[in-house]
Amino acid sequence: MASVSSSAGASPAYRYVDHAYDVVVVGAGGAGLRATLGMAEQGLRTACITKVFPTRSHTVAAQGGIAASLQNMTPDSWQWHLYDTVKGSDWLGDVDAMQYLAMEAPKAVYELEHYGVPFSRNEEGKIYQRPFGGHMQNYGEGPPVQRTCAAADRTGHAILHTLYGQSLRNNAQFFIEYFALDLIMSEDGRCTGVIAWCLDDGTIHRFSAKMVVLATGGYGRAYFSATSAHTCTGDGGGMVARAGLPLQDMEFVQFHPTGIYGAGCLITEGARGEGGYLVNSEGERFMERYAPSAKDLASRDVVSRCMTLEIREGRGVGKNKDHIFLHLDHLDPAVLHERLPGISESARIFAGVDVTREPIPVLPTVHYNMGGIPTNFWGEVLNANSENPERLAPGLMAVGEAGCASVHGANRLGSNSLIDLVVFGRAAAIRAGQVIDRNEAIPSLDKAACDQIMTRFDGLRHAKGSTPTAVLREKMQRAMQEDAAVFRTQESLESGCQRLSAIWKELPDVKVVDRSMIWNSDLVETLELHNLMANAITTVYGAEARKESRGSHAREDYTDGPFAGRDDVNWRKHTLAWLNEAGDVTLDYRPVHTELIAEGIDPKKIEPKARVY
Ligand code: FUM
Repeated sequence: MASVSSSAGASPAYRYVDHAYDVVVVGAGGAGLRATLGMAEQGLRTACITKVFPTRSHTVAAQGGIAASLQNMTPDSWQWHLYDTVKGSDWLGDVDAMQYLAMEAPKAVYELEHYGVPFSRNEEGKIYQRPFGGHMQNYGEGPPVQRTCAAADRTGHAILHTLYGQSLRNNAQFFIEYFALDLIMSEDGRCTGVIAWCLDDGTIHRFSAKMVVLATGGYGRAYFSATSAHTCTGDGGGMVARAGLPLQDMEFVQFHPTGIYGAGCLITEGARGEGGYLVNSEGERFMERYAPSAKDLASRDVVSRCMTLEIREGRGVGKNKDHIFLHLDHLDPAVLHERLPGISESARIFAGVDVTREPIPVLPTVHYNMGGIPTNFWGEVLNANSENPERLAPGLMAVGEAGCASVHGANRLGSNSLIDLVVFGRAAAIRAGQVIDRNEAIPSLDKAACDQIMTRFDGLRHAKGSTPTAVLREKMQRAMQEDAAVFRTQESLESGCQRLSAIWKELPDVKVVDRSMIWNSDLVETLELHNLMANAITTVYGAEARKESRGSHAREDYTDGPFAGRDDVNWRKHTLAWLNEAGDVTLDYRPVHTELIAEGIDPKKIEPKARVY
């Protein structure tokens, strides 16, 4: 039910449309759609708000596949998957969330198959699975395991289309090309809804809901070069920070080893899974030196660091010796055609390379945010601090890359992202079905909270400063790229903090030229810049404070000891970061969950040790 009004008391004058739902999901990528579908299947009145058409969400770009121990190609088990995920996380992931992921993964993939995802097949007609970085047999002792279920190299595309169709079939309501502005928070800290701007007709929609689920994706676009879509602007993190809630583990930013040099587009790790390999200017397969066992299929943070070292030591390829070659030209063209058609096309379009004859120029490129909105493994958002590490923020959930369960800890394994989306999207729906009282009234609209949100929106719409949004955005992106990179030092991180704080102070001087309400991309980009900045500034401050090396947070000033700079005594803990309007960041910490939630594995197997591949 929706009601329309043309003004709303003290609110700035806009055309308001009010809605009431049991659940409102913000975002229609893999996690948002899986949550939407699961909610709608249970008969919960469910709306999904999305700033792009659902099948254009960034999940569409996920290539290589989705991890689950199906054992279709090699021996495997959820225990091995759990071990690899724990080790991949560099012992920062929460064990309960990681065990839930590994145990639920096969069920979640078979559900996708039954919903209609057109997976590639092996000779027996079972779902095809390929090797991926950091996924090994026998608790890391054996050879690579074939665990990553694939639909050629367009797995995300296949999943997204299927989940959108199934959500429509179950009567979920979609609000497409609506930009979510902010969460409606009650005085006592409950989330009671969200306000969104319809980009197409300029109306403002106030959604009241018993549960809001943030599934807004990552913030890759805080960096200058990223595999992420331009829409990956951390909108959920921005809304949560403005609501006075913390963000978690923001310092952990993943670089994918193989972004196309210059363009940044992804070349899937599946390319190395199918037998591709990296070489330096001397023609050497250098990964054999750094990771004798897993070689090119070591974990992503490891491969990215090795590539960076090769370039630094003068063994990069190309005129400027500033990138690395990925060879696929030794592979059977029929395999490339059948299993890697998408990246063969990307290499041709973005690098001018025929992969059957020439190597692809590649460079580590920002790909994924391990940090995000803290949640438990049911997707319930935590309003945590060191004294109340498990306290819930009622009425609010977060799933997918926007959330931090924390299932990836300090480094995510390839293909654990798609499985995270569907396992935790599904978990959020299961939990919502348990905690939402269908007979209870939907919260009434808190006009004062809405007015505050609209006053901010109106202020940005009429911003009369002197600095174009694009200028500030590029400053932020360059600072992040230079100061919070693959390798970090105290000096680079202090510089990052200073630069980001200075940019924050420039935000009030932003210039918005277009005042219209219809397809105002100038204003959308300004709202997105504010969201990106909330994510970026908490990233650098969290990173500066963390005095160790762990996973993707590789500090060159912390390399000693048996774990090469990792300090489990002082730093095996999650960072929490709050941001105020002035741009001040406050940090606190909460413990890592180390307890298993089910039997079937000896806890000793996942105890911390040195991380070698
Ligand atoms: O390399 C890839 O196909 C990316 C997969 C992932 O990030 O999980």
